[in-house]
Amino acid sequence: AQTEKDLLYKIHEVANNYFQEILWDAEDGRSIGLAYFKERELRDDIIKKFQLGYSPEKKNAFTAYAEEKGYSKEILEKSGLSIFPENAPAGIDRFRERVIFPIHSFSGRVLGFGARILKSNVKTAKYLNSPETEIYHKSNVLYGLNQSKQAISRKNTCLLVEGYMDVISLHMSGIENVVASSGTSLTTEQIKLIKRLTENVTILFDGDNAGIKASFRSIDMLLTEGMNIRVLLFPDGDDPDSFARKHPQDYVEKYIENEAMDFIDFKAEILLKDAGTDPIKKAEAIRNIVKSVSFVQNALKREVYLKEVSNKFGLSEQSLFNELDVQKQITQ
Ligand code: CTP
Ligand code: MN
Ligand code: MN
Ligand code: MN
Ligand code: MN
Repeated sequence: AQTEKDLLYKIHEVANNYFQEILWDAEDGRSIGLAYFKERELRDDIIKKFQLGYSPEKKNAFTAYAEEKGYSKEILEKSGLSIFPENAPAGIDRFRERVIFPIHSFSGRVLGFGARILKSNVKTAKYLNSPETEIYHKSNVLYGLNQSKQAISRKNTCLLVEGYMDVISLHMSGIENVVASSGTSLTTEQIKLIKRLTENVTILFDGDNAGIKASFRSIDMLLTEGMNIRVLLFPDGDDPDSFARKHPQDYVEKYIENEAMDFIDFKAEILLKDAGTDPIKKAEAIRNIVKSVSFVQNALKREVYLKEVSNKFGLSEQSLFNELDVQKQITQ
């Protein structure tokens, strides 16, 4: 028998094909949606690889199409693709006048969608995403994992970025071992998905305040799961998407290779910049770094990192070990 879950998978497949058909074959899809992707310099093969689409302006374009195909109001509502307001005569589409990024499971089934507004100065949120449904749990999914899993295994390392376009642009320049946390803070479930393929992660978040904050949280999460990490923020407000479009593949690969730091150097660079010469602030920065060390699971690695902190700041290992003990008691 067909379960509700089966139906939800099916309707997402139908919607995914629908949004792509509009993008490639409909007048508005081509002149608005496809034009938008071309403006962002995406090639046709990449648009197809990521199954990008377009949702029309018309209030109920998809809802009417799906109802025609026999999908019930109930399942349309449960999928999050349609909204049925209290007193309205008919359902309306959640995604209207947006370019569409389907979100796939590890094995390639469509679970939900991200949808970007076309104009950048509009007040509504830039991205609108599927709500939590029976098949889509945001915290269990990494964008791009289906398209990137082979490259992640082959290279035995995974690049972690923030956004949809970061994944897509890196793929376009030939760097295919990349997934996105989609702007939320990284979860244990997401890390376990990566860990099936590799234990090595390079964090490549946006070089803004939000990116720095997110990288600090992600460092502690990844260390707790026993991952090896390196970190890199792009300069001057670049994100991986804008950086990858400015530079050739070789340059981007070398840049990541050469500029990515271990988490101690990374945190030290950012925290010490804020601390200046103030000894109290400097001590705070060191405590903050030791706290991250306390999340390292392997005792030997933990000691190696602590030695690095000791050398870097000219502090005795004993006092750092004492601090580590304090931090471990706090975090346990
Ligand atoms: N995001 C979201 N909702 C928002 C803003 C962001 O879900 N209102 C998620 C998206 O997955 C987005 C990621 O967070 O891709 C990173 O956000 P941001 O850096 O602001 O967007 P970009 O991906 O750089 O978007 P673009 O390049 O298309 O402007
Ligand atoms: Mn479930
Ligand atoms: Mn950002
Ligand atoms: Mn960004
Ligand atoms: Mn961007």
